[in-house]
Amino acid sequence: MPLVSSKPILEEALRQHFAVGAFNANNMEQVQAIVEAAQEERAPVILQVSQGAIRYAGMAFAAGLVKIAASVVSVPVVLHLDHGTDFDQNVRCLYAGFTSLMYDGSKKPYEQNVATTKKIVEIAHAVDLPVEAELGQVLQTSDRVTYEQVCAAMTDPQQAREFVELTGVDSLAIACGSVHAMTSREAELDVPRIKAIHAQIPNTPLVLHGSSGVKHESVAEGIAHGICKVNVATALNQAFLEGIRQGLVQFAESTDPRKSIGLGRDAVKEIVREKIRLFGSAGVIDSTGGFVSPKKQYRSAELGAVE
Ligand code: G3H
Ligand code: ZN
Repeated sequence: MPLVSSKPILEEALRQHFAVGAFNANNMEQVQAIVEAAQEERAPVILQVSQGAIRYAGMAFAAGLVKIAASVVSVPVVLHLDHGTDFDQNVRCLYAGFTSLMYDGSKKPYEQNVATTKKIVEIAHAVDLPVEAELGQVLQTSDRVTYEQVCAAMTDPQQAREFVELTGVDSLAIACGSVHAMTSREAELDVPRIKAIHAQIPNTPLVLHGSSGVKHESVAEGIAHGICKVNVATALNQAFLEGIRQGLVQFAESTDPRKSIGLGRDAVKEIVREKIRLFGSAGVIDSTGGFVSPKKQYRSAELGAVE
């Protein structure tokens, strides 16, 4: 299928109370692992390009790989900019064929975040592209953050409503207890805060960043209360490297790098599959690439059958 916009996918997630996996990829094998898992699980999927991926692969390769990946599967694939740094970069991505944008002005003063987000939303909406923005701050483990800092950086529900009204943004990344790049699942989300934000902006899909470090049951609870997009990066990188390490031992005598890298790809695919099932997005896409009706899904589940 050609790439699709994240807008209708996230709206459907909001209606049906599941979340779309938004997976970061830096190379061909990671991209392949993600779309293969999505295809097998009949799940819509967002492939997102981070600032690191743009530096590593270059914009043309990063975007081109995802476009090719989308063309070989029959589930909806979105090409999304992750943590876009400024107006110009968003315009470059729009021009490069991205089907979903993000501006992360969370470290900027509130008024500046509003002004730049609004400007990007205006140009993106002119060509029907949706925009994600961030309010509150999802912090980084590399900054050695304390629990108090994480709490202080959380999104304010009233401000979230004002922000969405002022900017017209399509989805909102919220800070609700996760921290980017954690290597073990220990964090718990502030679910009452997610509920309060959702109550203020019930029609805006909420986005969870930094999900790799969040306990699975907490992610599921967040999804039940308005989280519609879950970003995953570190867990995939860990799996990729672990697979390669095993391959380097198993194929120590081989001169073929594909053997080890292939095990990395297999490992990423299994993690993506696990996340898709956790997010409730498995089986929501039919063989034509459209959404299965909720009624049909219910019947399938009841019969214990996978259509
Ligand atoms: O934007 C990307 C994500 O928030 C990934 O976070 O590396 O902690 O899974 P993570
Ligand atoms: Zn993030």
